[in-house]
Amino acid sequence: MDYKKYIAEKLKVDGVTQDELYDLIALPPNSEMGDYAIPCFKFAKLMRKSPVMIAQELKESVATDDVISEVSAVNGYLNFKINKDGFVRSTLEKIFAEGERYGASNEGAGKTVCIDYSSINIAKPFHIGHLSTTVLGGALYRIFNFLGYKAVGINHLGDYGTQFGKLISAYKRWGDKETVEKGGIRALNELYVRFHKEAEDHPEYDDEARAYFKKIEQGDSECQALFKWFKELTLKDVQKIYDMLDIHFDSYAGESFYSDKMQPVVDELIQKGLLTESRGAQVVDLEEYGMPPCIILKSDGSSLYATRDMAAAMYRKKEYDFDKCLYVVAYQQNLHFKQFFKVLELMGKEWAKDLVHVAYGMVSLEEGTMSTRKGNVVFLEDVIQKCIEKAYTIIDEKNPDLKNKQDVADKVGVGAVIFGALYNSKIKDIVFSYDKVLTFDGETSVYVQYTCARANSVLQKGGKVETFEVPELTAEEIELVKALSTFPQTVRAAAEKYEPSFIARFAVDVAQKFNKFYFDCKILSAEDEKTRNFRLALTNATWQALKNAFTLLGIGIPDKM
Ligand code: ARG
Repeated sequence: MDYKKYIAEKLKVDGVTQDELYDLIALPPNSEMGDYAIPCFKFAKLMRKSPVMIAQELKESVATDDVISEVSAVNGYLNFKINKDGFVRSTLEKIFAEGERYGASNEGAGKTVCIDYSSINIAKPFHIGHLSTTVLGGALYRIFNFLGYKAVGINHLGDYGTQFGKLISAYKRWGDKETVEKGGIRALNELYVRFHKEAEDHPEYDDEARAYFKKIEQGDSECQALFKWFKELTLKDVQKIYDMLDIHFDSYAGESFYSDKMQPVVDELIQKGLLTESRGAQVVDLEEYGMPPCIILKSDGSSLYATRDMAAAMYRKKEYDFDKCLYVVAYQQNLHFKQFFKVLELMGKEWAKDLVHVAYGMVSLEEGTMSTRKGNVVFLEDVIQKCIEKAYTIIDEKNPDLKNKQDVADKVGVGAVIFGALYNSKIKDIVFSYDKVLTFDGETSVYVQYTCARANSVLQKGGKVETFEVPELTAEEIELVKALSTFPQTVRAAAEKYEPSFIARFAVDVAQKFNKFYFDCKILSAEDEKTRNFRLALTNATWQALKNAFTLLGIGIPDKM
C-alpha cells in the first residue's frame, strides 16, 4: 500500500493538486512525531495564512480511520501516524510478491531514454576520470530500464581528430605490430606521448600527422585499416573493465560516425540564417544568451566537437525518437552542452528541451592527481585491481577459511570502486581513498555487502520465510520496515534527478537499520514462534531490497563473507 498516496487522496488543499501533495509528503526527522509529515509552509502564500494555522485547520479536516491512526499539527507540520500492523504487513507482502522486481514499475513504458555515457577516447588511457561517467551512466541505464523505459546506452567514442594522424605517424616511425597488439591502450598511449615529446624538436612531424588524418578522412585504405585496428584494440581493452562493472551499450557510434552527417547540419544552419563568419570561422552567435559563439567550422573548413554533437543529437532523435537524451559528462563541459543545446533550439528543434547534460564532479586519487599530457595517468584498471587486492587481504585476515575468497574479493573490490563514485551527490568532486572505500563499518558498499551476508547466514539457519503474522512490534522493526518501504519512491527519485546516489544511500540506511534490529532483537532465538517467524521474514525482505538496490548500482553481493 502506498501510504503517501492514501494521505494525498484524503487531504484537500485548494489550489494544490494531489500529485503536488504527494511530493510534499516526507518522513519526519523524528518518528515520535509521526510516520509521515507535510510541511505547510508551501501553502502559506497561497492560502494567506500562517503555516501553523493551516496545519491546525487541515488537521481538523482529516478523520482518522483503519489506516491513519492519528493526525497532529505541530509547528506548521501536519503529521500522520499509520496503523503499524497494516503498514508492516503490506510492505513485506509487496516485497515478497515482487521479489527482484520490488521497486520496479512500468511508468516508463513506451518511452525511450538515450544515455550517452563513458564515451571514451580511442587509444587514450581509460583512467580514473572516466570512472564516474561509466558507473553513473551504467546505473542510470539500469534504473530507467527498471522503471519500464527503453534505455539506449551510447558510447559516443572519441574517434575523430588529428590525434589519430599523430598516432599513425608515431606507429609508422617507432611502433611494431606485436608490441602494440600485446600492449593495447598502454602501448598506443606510449606512442602518443612519445610523438608529443619528439614533435617539440621536429615540427614537421605535426605536418605529417595532419596529412595522415586527411588520409583517414579521405578513406585511404592503409590509414583506415590502422585506425580501425587502434579502435579495436582500445575497445577490446576497455571491454574487460566494462565486464567487471556490468556496463552495456547498445551503440558505439562515435564521433567519426558523424563525418558524413555534418554537412546537412551546416546547410540547415545557413538556410536558417544562423551562421555568421568570425575571424574566418563559421559560428553561431550566442551573445544574446550570454555565451561565447558556438564554432561550427574552423577557417580551414574542418568541423568541431560541437558540430559532431549536433549531428549526433539529430541522428539520435531520428533513429530512436527519444523522450530524453542524457549526456553523462563532467561539469568541465558545461558550456559546450549549453551552447549546442541552444543552437539546436534556435534551429527550431522543439526536442532540444529534452537534451540533458547530467554533469558530475571530478574524481582524484588521494595519492595525488595525475597529469595526462606527460603520460603518468592512473589507469582505472589499476585502481580496480588494487581495490580487489586490498579486499582480498582484508577478507583473508577476517575470515581465512572462507571459500571462494577470490570471488568475494572481486565483488568487494569492484563494489568499492563503484560505490566510491556513486555514494555522493554526483556534482561533488571526490577524492578517492582506498582505505575509506574499503572500511567495513562506514558508509561503504562492503558494509552493505557484509550486512547482506549476515542476513543470508540467518536465513540459511532459519529459512527464507515469506509468510508471517505481525507480532507486537519493536521500534527497530518499524524503523527498518519504513526504510524498506521507501525503495520504490527512491528509485523513481533517482531517475528523476539522475542521482543513483539516492539508491546508494538507501542501501546504507537500510543496512544500518537492519544491523540495529539484528543486535537489539533476537531473530533465531526470539521469545516465541510468531516473533521468530516474523523476524525471519523481515530479514528476508531486507536481503531482497538490498539485493535489488545493489543490482541497480552494478554491484554484486557475495553469499558469505
Ligand atoms: N569523449 C569525450 C571526452 O572524453 C566525452 C564525450 C561525451 N559525449 C558527447 N556526446 N559529447 O571528453
